[in-house]
Amino acid sequence: MPQRIVAGNWKMNGSRDFAAAYLAALAGDVLPGSGCDVLLFPPATLLPLLATRVEELGIELGIQTVHPEPEGAFTGEIAAEMAVDAGATWTLIGHSERRQLLGESDADTALRALAARRAGLKPMLCVGETLVERQGGDAESVVTRQLDAVLDVLGEDLAAGGIAYEPVWAIGTGETASPEMAQAMHGMIRGVLRRRSARLAEMPILYGGSVKPANAAALFAEVDIDGALVGGASLDPAAFQAIIKAMETHGNP
Ligand code: 13P
Repeated sequence: MPQRIVAGNWKMNGSRDFAAAYLAALAGDVLPGSGCDVLLFPPATLLPLLATRVEELGIELGIQTVHPEPEGAFTGEIAAEMAVDAGATWTLIGHSERRQLLGESDADTALRALAARRAGLKPMLCVGETLVERQGGDAESVVTRQLDAVLDVLGEDLAAGGIAYEPVWAIGTGETASPEMAQAMHGMIRGVLRRRSARLAEMPILYGGSVKPANAAALFAEVDIDGALVGGASLDPAAFQAIIKAMETHGNP
């Protein structure tokens, strides 16, 4: 069975005080032994602080992106090796906000995924269509293209990480894909992976886009939804814990 994962993407939010209060709220409740892996993707500035507590809390940390190169004159960028040094074991790759706002191409995502693996990071590859692409009937072809771009370069090595299906129209909008709609895309993604290899087919496929305590259980009951990549709700430790509990109760065994 694929690993079950609940991940929080803090995006560009959080201070040292926020992180300390957040860890205090998590401690002693759901972690460890929550029945699923719990990941946090804080801003890079907070990785060293959070890294001091991960073992005790039984969580893993990730960075939100990495640069393709290991070092050099790339002002403002962070290399995968530097993320490892700061305490990350995961990285997001190709989050839609980077694709949409910063023009990150499919080719860029492949290079960043390659850099992640070179440094030993587990890549969480984000894929998802825009509203216009869905309305145009192109959702499946867009997601397949995004997957193939990285699979063609990494092959089986992508299996070290996970896939996050995040329809762009559901991110930060309060609008969630229905469980049936999400399952249909997750099943399609599983098929793409299975055609490549049995090992890839076992990858965890997370859903992201306005996941909240109120809608998590119904999503997790779907056969190919192995977890969630949570944005806004992950900033509230109580809401994040409730989503982890929903996975324990309603997720696939
Ligand atoms: P929201 O949960 O705020 O919609 O964000 C989803 C997301 O982009 C997680 O990476």
